[in-house]
Amino acid sequence: MCGIVGYIGHRCVLPILLDGLRRLEYRGYDSAGVAYILEGSVHRVRSEGKLGKLDLLLDGIRDVPSPVGLGHTRWATHGEPTEANAHPHTDCTGNLVVVHNGIIENYYTLRQQLQNEGHIFKSETDTEVLAHLIEKHLNGNLVQAVRDALMEVKGAYAIGVLWQGDPDILVAARKQSPMVLGLADNECFLASDIPALLPYTRDVIFLDDGEMAILSRNGAEVRHIDNGKPVVKVSQTISWNATMAEKAGYKHFMLKEIYEQPQAVLNTYRGRVMPELGEVSLPEIELSPDLIKGLRRIVLLACGTSWHAGLVAKYWIEKWARLPVEVDLASEFRYRHLILDETVLTVPISQSGETADTLAGLRMAKELGSPVIAICNVVGSTITRESGGTVYTHAGPEIGVASTKAFTSQLSALYVLALYLSQVRNSLTRGAIMGKISALMSVPGLLEEGLVPWHQQTMELADTFYSYSDFLYLGRDIHFPIALEGALKLKEISYIHAEGYAAGEMKHGPIALIDRKMPVVALAPHDHVYEKVLSNVEEVKSRRGIIIALGEKGDEGISRIAQYVVSVPRPEDPDINPFLYTIPLQLLAYEIAVARGCDVDQPRNLAKSVTVE
Ligand code: AGP
Repeated sequence: MCGIVGYIGHRCVLPILLDGLRRLEYRGYDSAGVAYILEGSVHRVRSEGKLGKLDLLLDGIRDVPSPVGLGHTRWATHGEPTEANAHPHTDCTGNLVVVHNGIIENYYTLRQQLQNEGHIFKSETDTEVLAHLIEKHLNGNLVQAVRDALMEVKGAYAIGVLWQGDPDILVAARKQSPMVLGLADNECFLASDIPALLPYTRDVIFLDDGEMAILSRNGAEVRHIDNGKPVVKVSQTISWNATMAEKAGYKHFMLKEIYEQPQAVLNTYRGRVMPELGEVSLPEIELSPDLIKGLRRIVLLACGTSWHAGLVAKYWIEKWARLPVEVDLASEFRYRHLILDETVLTVPISQSGETADTLAGLRMAKELGSPVIAICNVVGSTITRESGGTVYTHAGPEIGVASTKAFTSQLSALYVLALYLSQVRNSLTRGAIMGKISALMSVPGLLEEGLVPWHQQTMELADTFYSYSDFLYLGRDIHFPIALEGALKLKEISYIHAEGYAAGEMKHGPIALIDRKMPVVALAPHDHVYEKVLSNVEEVKSRRGIIIALGEKGDEGISRIAQYVVSVPRPEDPDINPFLYTIPLQLLAYEIAVARGCDVDQPRNLAKSVTVE
């Protein structure tokens, strides 16, 4: 996934581009470049690798008095991560430059046609096709040329275009890849994501699919790409400030975000629960009570960590709202022969709101008449704008690629959603809802109390276990998804092979793996399946396995069997245990990854949001 930054205004452009690209580093990239106009000429500087290399190349020109330019960090999709393939790309003249995020699916055909018409290509990328296609259509009017070019393009794009022939404008356009505009006095910004804009403005406009924007010092004009007609857009004010997107003194964004979870969980349910009334409120859900009472099924749709959140919510919704819940991997869901209609509520769950598979799934659900309510962390993201309503998680910007506070915020939102469904369907008494609200409201305090001791315990465990190459995570019932999440955290930031498994499955295969070389992390809260988990842990011990158990302080049963125990307090209501048991697993993964010297915030091969299939 790539990062785009553009600026037109009254300041020197290069420092703004570099700063913006740095704030988008979390999106993952392997080359970078900038382009700007100075004294009537287009200048371009590019490099493979990280921004530090590009920055070195800007020595001596960083403060050139150019007021307009584009910057880009590229995640290679077509062509190796080299300087030649780095954006921005130019047309034959070198006077027109393009930056692009997405995939041009028909680039090969277009490239052939353009080459036959005499265009000379200098890279292996699909993006360069856009530069030559716009050049082909350019007849003094850049906006029209971009429109004409994009009418020939198939695929996903968010683009920025700059032309020496019209240096007073920047043109942006989007289809299926995010693009946000920043508005300020006598200057305009464009970016792939909000953090790049925050030091300069919090007034933003999100482009929708099929829209383009003409940016100038006087502001931004939005039009439909296909017919060129103006689009009325309402700017939104982002509540995040620049520091929220900084590390705030933590070693990594991920650690900062782990410690932000008490506040993120609270911010997500705040204003939605009324403990004194025993009621929850979700005005974002504009579904009639009759429709909700008539629902026969819920489909939770997501990828990765968000899918794990859905797996946890299944237990809450089925237990409280007495509604069958399917939890689908979006990449599987979108290619199945779906049975959906107006009696099925589809809930896409996504931190970024831009995950291609989840977006495709929600579009299919809508086509089949299923009402769609999203759970999402990014205001105005594509998934939120295409859903019937959105229950926003208020986790704030999550910069670390490994999802942490977004996950527990999703749990908070899904917990409230489960109570809301129960309330409308009268499947829980007011008193029972009051009790569940009270339990949820105890979570931030329990997390605050646990974070430092859990961190200390997991630091010690990391010293012992960081060199192991295989881990097995076991959980039952609502903690099976937490075992999956713990394993995902470890594998994605430490590159250690880790599997999450339903503890009851041990005899059906995984027990063959047990030996002293593979630590087993067992989740053993005192709930209705505690005894079953204990017997699974016994099986591991009797085969000389190494056991790291998460269990309640002073729990005799666990302490007798496990060589290592991380203590987790026993809450009054076991239904909130998933919030508590997740955090030590996040910290264990984090400390092991740090001990292994891994790039915790930008793990290899991973992007923060997978906006292409
Ligand atoms: C989780 O740590 C990963 N970053 C990844 O699995 C992520 O949860 C998944 O790609 C879904 O992203 P989304 O929530 O933005 O849709």
